[in-house]
Amino acid sequence: MSNVLEVTGLSITFATPRGNLRAVNDATITLEQGESIGVVGESGSGKTVLSRAIMGLLPGTATRTGSIKYMGNEISELPEKELRELWGTGMAMIFQDPMTTLNPVRRIGTQLTESLTVRLKLSKKEAHEQAIELLRRVRIADPEGMMRKFPYQLSGGMRQRIMIAIAVSCKPELLFADEPTTALDVTVQAQVLELLSELRKEFNMAMILVTHDLGVVAGHTDKIAVMYAGDVVEMAPTRELFNNMKMPYTEALLKSIPRLDTPTGTRLPVIEGRLPDPTKNEPGCPFADRCPYVADKCRAEKPPLKDTGNGHLYRCWFPIGGEK
Ligand SMILES: Nc1ncnc2c1ncn2[C@@H]1O[C@H](COP(=O)(O)OP(=O)(O)OP(=O)(O)O)[C@@H](O)[C@H]1O
Ligand SMILES: [Mg+2]
Repeated sequence: MSNVLEVTGLSITFATPRGNLRAVNDATITLEQGESIGVVGESGSGKTVLSRAIMGLLPGTATRTGSIKYMGNEISELPEKELRELWGTGMAMIFQDPMTTLNPVRRIGTQLTESLTVRLKLSKKEAHEQAIELLRRVRIADPEGMMRKFPYQLSGGMRQRIMIAIAVSCKPELLFADEPTTALDVTVQAQVLELLSELRKEFNMAMILVTHDLGVVAGHTDKIAVMYAGDVVEMAPTRELFNNMKMPYTEALLKSIPRLDTPTGTRLPVIEGRLPDPTKNEPGCPFADRCPYVADKCRAEKPPLKDTGNGHLYRCWFPIGGEK
């Protein structure tokens, strides 16, 4: 199978008044055609910066090193005009809050058909027919009626379905979904994720699903990258990650997932402490201060990324279950 995406040694820093902020450190990620990866980690760990960097959507204050190849071609140096041509047809994205991406004063039908006439050069009539088909595909009960609606007339879950319809309308090779369901209630979340998974399989799209919830990615991704303070600290095929977790941080994340059978009012275990200051470059493992298994070595030296050989990588001196 060919690789849709090859990110190698990607680092992103921002110039800030407090000094250089390291948002992503030396990330290496590969995605095959149709493969999906979940990127998880606490708020501020670098998930959004990593995905925006891949799409070429970073602000001017960002500095990048490392390589980003899409379909074998280096895209990290592409001028914006050429990148724009990739968006939609090659790479498409779905954001957390559809209201910021949908135009509030234009009808759903106009926004959906526009993407088809501009990107796929369809005629108005063809675009209309295809838009109806897409709305059906994302399970909108009355597609003709929906075409005439404005975004504010829709529920959060409906809007997110429309965003998904627009994102997949040109059958992209690679779909980014950055916290696509966090604004929705739990039942609707599950439906939207199910829909995304179905469409991904049907169109054989690769997908990067960003979330702070390890539970969300469990059933919807082939592999998982766990980020902490800008580092990819563990990466493995999904089943391997859950069966053979190596990182104390991943374990702590897993424990912080609310369970459906947790009685309301129960205090959920959160990970004590907070992320280190990303503008400082302290020695040792960035998780040391919060880790239940911390030892002297952890404070002295940052662990390198180790490869167990079966696609499982981790960054820890004292992994759970010991070294293999
Ligand atoms: N434009 C920017 N300028 C300066 N710093 C930034 C900028 N964007 C992000 N950062 C910093 O980069 C780090 C990573 O941020 P990022 O948004 O990727 O986190 P995240 O994992 O997506 O968090 P969340 O779960 O809250 O969305 C943070 O320390 C953040 O403050
Ligand atoms: Mg984010």
